[in-house]
Amino acid sequence: MTQLAPKPDTGAFDRRLLHRAKGATVYIGVCAGLGLAQTACVIAGAWLIASLIAGAFAGGRDLASLAPELVGLAAVLAARALLASVQEAAAHRAAAGVKSGLRRQALDKLMHLPSGTRHTGETANLLVRGVDALDAYFARYLPQLVLAAIVPVGVLAVMVVAYPPAALIVLLTLPLIPLFGILIGRYTKARAERQWASTSALAHHFADLVAGLPTLKAFGRAAKQAGAIEATTGEYRRRSMALLRVAFCSALVLELAASLSVAIVAVTVGVQLVEGGLAGAAGLQTALLVLILAPEAYLPLRNVGAHYHASAEGLAAAEQVFGILAEAPEPGAEPAPEAPQTGAAALPSAPHIAPPLRRAPTIMFRRTVFAYPGRDPLPELSLTVPAAQTTVLTARSGAGKSTLLAALLGFRRPVGGSIAFDGTDLTRLDLEAIRRSVAWLPQKPVLIDGTVADNVRLAVPYEPSDPAVAKAIAAAHAPDGRRRVAASGAGLSAGEAARVGLARLLLRADLLDTPVLLLDEPTAHLDADTERAVLESFEPYRENRTVLIASHRDAVRAIADREVDW
Ligand SMILES: Nc1ncnc2c1ncn2[C@@H]1O[C@H](COP(=O)(O)OP(=O)(O)O)[C@@H](O)[C@H]1O
Ligand SMILES: [Mg+2]
Repeated sequence: MTQLAPKPDTGAFDRRLLHRAKGATVYIGVCAGLGLAQTACVIAGAWLIASLIAGAFAGGRDLASLAPELVGLAAVLAARALLASVQEAAAHRAAAGVKSGLRRQALDKLMHLPSGTRHTGETANLLVRGVDALDAYFARYLPQLVLAAIVPVGVLAVMVVAYPPAALIVLLTLPLIPLFGILIGRYTKARAERQWASTSALAHHFADLVAGLPTLKAFGRAAKQAGAIEATTGEYRRRSMALLRVAFCSALVLELAASLSVAIVAVTVGVQLVEGGLAGAAGLQTALLVLILAPEAYLPLRNVGAHYHASAEGLAAAEQVFGILAEAPEPGAEPAPEAPQTGAAALPSAPHIAPPLRRAPTIMFRRTVFAYPGRDPLPELSLTVPAAQTTVLTARSGAGKSTLLAALLGFRRPVGGSIAFDGTDLTRLDLEAIRRSVAWLPQKPVLIDGTVADNVRLAVPYEPSDPAVAKAIAAAHAPDGRRRVAASGAGLSAGEAARVGLARLLLRADLLDTPVLLLDEPTAHLDADTERAVLESFEPYRENRTVLIASHRDAVRAIADREVDW
C-alpha cells in the first residue's frame, strides 16, 4: 500500500493546487467579486428588514409608505439567489477544469513511470474518486473562505457606524471561530489522511481479491479472504465514523461559539433598548440592524470550518496526486534531452534528432544491462539484430527477453551499455517517432471491454477501415470480429487472446507500414496446426522489416534468419 508522502503542512489553502490549475486563479477572482456583491446584499437586506420592522412597529408607517423598502427587499433577495447560482456554476466549472487537469497530468506522468510499481486499484481509486472529492473544496470550501475574508469586514464596518459597542464585541469574539477551527482542523487533517489511506487499502484489497477469486476458490482460500475484507471494511468504517464524529463535534463547537457571541451582542443591545440608550424608531432600527447582522459576521467562518471536513478528503487525494507528479521517472524511462555531440555549437537547443524510421533498421545492443529495483541486474548483453531480417530470441525464461523488447519502445531503460537504431543511440532519438515505427505484440496483450474488432482497432491512432480490420483478424486467425470480450480478456482463451494481439500487430504493420515488428511469445498458447497457419499468414508481413521474436517454439525458430541465445 502506498504510504502518504510526508509533506509540508500546506494548510487548507493549497497553493500548489491553485498553481497547477490555470482556471483556479480566475475562479478565486470571481469568488471575490461575488463575495463583495453578496456582502452588499447581506448589509442591504439587513438594513431593509430593520427599517421595515422599525417603521411598521415604532414609526407607525402604513403599508403603502413601506412599499419601496418591500420592493427593495425583494430585489435584494432575488440578487442573492442569482449570485448563489452564478457562484455554483463558476465553482463547478473551476472544479471540472482542475480535476481534468490533475487527472491528465497524473496519467501523463504515470505513462513515464516504471510499470508495475503502483497498484491499479489504488491508482484508479485515487484518480477517480479521490480527485472527485475536490468538488467539495472548490464548490464549498474556497467560496466560503473568500466570503470569510470579506463579509465580516463589511459587517463590522456597518456596525462601527451604527452601534460601536456591538462592533467591539464581534471584533473580540470573531477570532474564536477560526482559532477553534484551526485547532480542530489540525486534528481532522491527520484523521482525513488516515481515512483516505484505509479507503485506498480497501480499494487495493478488493481489486486484488476480485481478480484472484477463481484462484482463491481453487485453493479453498476464498472464505478466509472474506475475513480479511471484513477486517479492511471494519477499519474503513471505524475511520469514517471517527472522522464524522470529529466533524460533528467541530460543527457543534463552532456553532456554540458563534451563538454565544451573538447572544452577548443581543443582550447588550437589549439592555440598551430597555434603558433608553437606543430610543424611538431609529433606535429600534439600529438594534435590529445589529441583531440581524451579527450572525452574518460569524456565518462564513463557521461554514469554512464545516466545509473543511468535506474538502479534507479531496485535499488528501490531491496530495497523493502531487506525490505522483513529483516522482522521478525511472532512470532512463524517457530519454533525457541531450546536446548533440557534433555541431552542438550551431544547434545548441535542438534536443532530439528526429528521424522517424523509414526503412528497416539495424538494432544494436552494446553491453546493455537491465535492472529492476531491488533485484540483481540481468546479465550484460551484446547483440545485433540485422536489418530486414527475422531474429528469434530463444534465451531461457527469465533471461530478459520481454524486458529487451520493452526497452526498444522506451518502456525500460538500460542501466548500462546502450541500444542503437542504425547506429544512433536510442536516447538521442525521438521516442514518439520510434514508437510510431514499431508494431509490438506484448507477452500478455491488454484487452478492453468490447468486441474483438474493437480490440483490434486500438492498434492505430485513428479509426481504421472495417476491411483493414477484417483482413488483420483473418490473417491472425483471431476469433470472429463481433465476438464480445470482457475487460481483462474474460471470454477468450489464452490462445484466442494472443491472436487478437497478433491481429493488432498485423493491422498496425499494414496501416502504418512500421519497419520494426516485435513479437513476444506470439504462439505460446497455440496448437501446432494453428501455429503453422498463423506463421504462414505472417510470412508476407516479415518482408523488408526488422522482426524480433521472443519464442522457444520450433515452428517459430524455423522461420528465423537468425537465432540468439544468451
Ligand atoms: N516489473 C518487474 N519487477 C521486477 N522484476 C521483474 C519485472 N519484470 C521482470 N522482472 C524480472 O526480470 C527478469 C527478466 O524478465 P523478462 O524480461 O520477463 O524475462 P523473459 O521474457 O525472458 O522470460 C526476470 O527475472 C523477472 O523476474
Ligand atoms: Mg517474457
